[in-house]
Amino acid sequence: MSLSPVVPEKRPAEELNRAVILLGPPGAGKGTQAKKLAAKYAVPHLSTGDMLREHIAAGTELGAKAKPIMERGELVPDSLVLRIVADRIEKPDCSHGFVFDGFPRTVAQAHYLGELLKQHGFRRPIVIHLVVDTSLILRRITGRRMCKVGGEIYNIYERPPKVEGRCDNDGGELAQRPDDREEIVGPRLKAYEKQTEPLVAYYTRLGLLYDVDAAKSVEEVEQSVWKTLHLARGGH
Ligand code: AP5
Repeated sequence: MSLSPVVPEKRPAEELNRAVILLGPPGAGKGTQAKKLAAKYAVPHLSTGDMLREHIAAGTELGAKAKPIMERGELVPDSLVLRIVADRIEKPDCSHGFVFDGFPRTVAQAHYLGELLKQHGFRRPIVIHLVVDTSLILRRITGRRMCKVGGEIYNIYERPPKVEGRCDNDGGELAQRPDDREEIVGPRLKAYEKQTEPLVAYYTRLGLLYDVDAAKSVEEVEQSVWKTLHLARGGH
């Protein structure tokens, strides 16, 4: 019988030494859980959505190409996304692993990532599949607000800030993402079903995928993610 491990506050990054991939539909809680996991191991949280939004905010050429596509709720072409991921994992802070949120998102991206991880000498990744019914997604997405300063994620229905419109951590202004409008949720879900969901079968075939029930509270999902990771790493 395996004991359910208590979620620790901190663990050494050397213990992880690989990529963890959080896979799931928009609003599943990938960003919320990725931040917690990355903070526990003090490894980078790599969100391709955040990276693309940073390019948009900085007014780069890549950002200008990505912006209209993201606002329509479609996927940005692999060629743009792969470039930013390859550059990012070259950085020294990635040497003990990282937590991906929103990447890979197509089978082509997953192939590419597999090769990239091999080249960098990482072990095979652990893929945590956050399973949540679409009926919960609309409320999660339309209720989301993000801190413009530190990126903390809130939800006006489920996890409101203490002061309306302000981050509890740093007082930063909370904003809604342009693609979190109700009419964009449908296209985002369609893109997920068509282009990203095939990754569930892909990683299952490779024996790397673990399901986690993401319909529960943030704390319960955090506990399940931790337990799953513990088991996937061989119970140590
Ligand atoms: P991206 O930023 O990756 O968005 P997404 O995948 O659609 O996912 P979300 O950020 O909407 O949701 P999440 O699962 O992270 O949920 P969160 O934790 O925030 O991508 C945006 C766009 O960029 C894409 O559409 C595409 O155009 C482009 N893009 C990005 N990566 C790409 C790639 N690799 N290839 C091509 N294009 C790419 O939680 C959501 C809300 O729910 C929050 O309010 C939160 O507080 C709440 N919540 C979370 N967990 C719970 C819980 N357990 N119970 C109750 N509420 C919860």
